[in-house]
Amino acid sequence: MSGLDGSTLAAAMGRLRSDFPVLQQNINGHPLVYLDNGASSQRPLAVIEAERHYASHLHSNVHRGVHSLSALATDAFEGARDNVRRFLNARSTREIIFTRGTTESINLVAQSYGRSRLGVGDEILITALEHHSNIVPWQMVCAATGATLKVAAINRRGELDLSSFKAALSAQTRLVATSHVSNALGSVLPVAEIVALAHAQGVPVLLDGAQAIPHLTIDVQALDCDFYAFSGHKLYGPDGIGVLYGRESLLEAMPPWQGGGDMILSVSFTGTTYNQLPYKFEAGTPHISGAIGLGVAIDYVSKIGLPAIAAWEQHLLEYATTQLSTIEGLTIIGTAADKASLVSFTVEGIHPHDLGTILDQSGIAIRTGHHCAMPVMQFFGLPATARASFAFYNTTDEIDQLVIAVQSAQRLFR
Ligand code: ALA
Repeated sequence: MSGLDGSTLAAAMGRLRSDFPVLQQNINGHPLVYLDNGASSQRPLAVIEAERHYASHLHSNVHRGVHSLSALATDAFEGARDNVRRFLNARSTREIIFTRGTTESINLVAQSYGRSRLGVGDEILITALEHHSNIVPWQMVCAATGATLKVAAINRRGELDLSSFKAALSAQTRLVATSHVSNALGSVLPVAEIVALAHAQGVPVLLDGAQAIPHLTIDVQALDCDFYAFSGHKLYGPDGIGVLYGRESLLEAMPPWQGGGDMILSVSFTGTTYNQLPYKFEAGTPHISGAIGLGVAIDYVSKIGLPAIAAWEQHLLEYATTQLSTIEGLTIIGTAADKASLVSFTVEGIHPHDLGTILDQSGIAIRTGHHCAMPVMQFFGLPATARASFAFYNTTDEIDQLVIAVQSAQRLFR
């Protein structure tokens, strides 16, 4: 199946969709139209089977036992780490740390890198497009260290204002932390420029890749970022598992964040020596089945190919933008020139939550609310938006159903 382009992916759609049991069901008497992939995408059978196989045949703790099951579980777990390394084109598995998800990955950097290096007068620079998980950890570390959080502005299209970013990047900036793709608006941030500008001043860059990972080919060496965070459940994998990529030289210099088993080489009451990377940052029993499932999700996505996925999703984005724009009273929020496949919108006279509830009656799942990005909503003067977010298994027919359902909600509220 590798080497698909957008149109051959569309031709294979029936077969691809049959890989996803969740998509085969009715919700509220209608075939499910799942347009909430930005919140969490669905798992193919291959991932579900891999988790089941692990639980049925391989389950044991990793890195700990001399017995065969432990060796098998360890091999599968470390094999998944190598899958992640290849997927991100990281140099070494020492740079791949398993976490619970994007949020934990960012908190790890904030608490380990941030706390150990920041003080009064130092600055962290983020953007006005961030998810709460790339705001609050920095506010917490600033409160603890006396550092200051700076925010680069956005424009009315929902694009980063690069001149504001340049102005905010100062001799005091110690870290830049930015989303790769905005979860609330879909804007793709100019991460190459951001990294180049920050590195020109010797400032490392963390990219929150939660919304980018299912849509874009990620090459951490080409991006030249210092940290990259993402979650398994947005990449057709299990929930509760995520990844922090970190540049080895930075990770080496960072203190551990959480203490416990597996992150040590030796412990006594006079002192403890820490384990080598990546285990130094993986205290306690990890989410073994989650990591294995993520490795299989990566194989699944790689077989289809991210270029084909990106081409089809861009088609869906353009189709949805055109079709939704024909609805009178509907306003698309976030019109960046470079967008991933999601559309945030409001409909005059209908609160997004009411709209989401009505659409649900037709089996259409979208997300409504502030999308854990309250500052973005505040910028646009809105309490909430409705958001349809697409995966490669979505179709233009599903977008037509969304349009019809929005129009019938309008008739209901007239
Ligand atoms: N961060 C996820 C979203 O945007 C949950 O929906």
